[in-house]
Amino acid sequence: MAGSDEWRCVAATVPPGQSATFRLERAGRTVHGFVVNHDGGYRAYVNCCPHVGTPLDLWPNEFFTEDGRALICSTHGAVFEPTTGRCTAGPCVGDRLTALPLVLEGETLVVRLPTETTAPPAGP
Ligand code: FES
Repeated sequence: MAGSDEWRCVAATVPPGQSATFRLERAGRTVHGFVVNHDGGYRAYVNCCPHVGTPLDLWPNEFFTEDGRALICSTHGAVFEPTTGRCTAGPCVGDRLTALPLVLEGETLVVRLPTETTAPPAGP
């Protein structure tokens, strides 16, 4: 069965300080991503660390640091700002997670895979 280039989720199922993972597909290309609810807003990113390209969550859907203030890559400990995706500590300081476009349609989060010209790198 073909995958979808759009992911929808009831926003209330991702409460503050929580995350959810998803997979987008188009023309045989797959992108693994995740959405976080932080500081009153939602953000979506490709689940691919800019350091060496592994998923951030070796433990599925575990993206936040223990204090809930940042995102962390479980491979080598890079730390990212949840609102911008910018790496603030670890081996890839200054790099960024690749953001995915996310909109709130009523009570539903919607993430769509960008068109090829602006598409992020494929996740693992
Ligand atoms: S792969 Fe994420 S910090 Fe090295």
